[in-house]
Amino acid sequence: MSERKKLTIPDLYAMVERGEKITFLTAYDYPTARLEDRAGIDMILVGDSGAMCLLGHETTLPATMDFMVEITAAVSRAVERAFVVGDMPYMSYQPSNELAIKNAGRFISEGGADAVKLEGGARMAERVEAIVKAGIPVMGHIGLTPQAATLIGGLKAQGRTAETAARLIEDAKVLEEAGAFAILLEAIPARVAEIIVRNATVPILSIGSGAACHGQLLIVHDILNLFEAFTPKFVKVYADVAAVMLQAFREYIEEVKSGKFPTPDHEYRIPKEEWKRLQEMLDEGR
Ligand code: KIV
Repeated sequence: MSERKKLTIPDLYAMVERGEKITFLTAYDYPTARLEDRAGIDMILVGDSGAMCLLGHETTLPATMDFMVEITAAVSRAVERAFVVGDMPYMSYQPSNELAIKNAGRFISEGGADAVKLEGGARMAERVEAIVKAGIPVMGHIGLTPQAATLIGGLKAQGRTAETAARLIEDAKVLEEAGAFAILLEAIPARVAEIIVRNATVPILSIGSGAACHGQLLIVHDILNLFEAFTPKFVKVYADVAAVMLQAFREYIEEVKSGKFPTPDHEYRIPKEEWKRLQEMLDEGR
């Protein structure tokens, strides 16, 4: 397989089969997605976390379908190889199967995504089944599901009691039966995730759910230190891009204020002949 060939669901399943971990990052814009793809990322999630990371909202709830479709299209245009998953925003799928299918379809037809993701376990199985029946691959998402933060007691790890852990194990099974091609586990104990992985026949992806999963997802703004509001326990910062940007902005401000920028190297020139003609025109006009 050529390095640049677009990855498909069978490619992802083959990676799991041969024990190769799936790498997964969020992206919300063209330049970031282009760099992730060039680096060799396997999957990109255009997350509704973009409402927080890009737009400065306190939660993901204000993300709209139009916003999500537009940023998904930007990411899809940037990508040659990575498998792109569009994240269905709050109330774009909860009300009915019809609305869920219509909005999932927009991610594919307008956003160029390869699949969609939606939050919720057994209570969303009917939606997953309906979208899959319409021919659109769906990734399930259980554990810490930010769209249902109030229902699950806030933005905190899930499945830390025997009862809630057993419910998550059941949720994963039900989502798989409903046709989900993969399931994302967010912020659940590693030992509970291990059971889900053992029981599963589809790829189980983790964000903060331990190393046993078939792949790992992180939010790109977290790994680059670009999200200042809070840093979850499971995040590892790989580069302090915020520091690099701050330094560049400060240098630019200093150079403009002091007259060090721009220099003649950054200026356009008028050809000598044209300059002479301009002088003559201006003289004639006097
Ligand atoms: O929106 C998002 O980025 C997500 C991840 C946190 C799983 O849903």
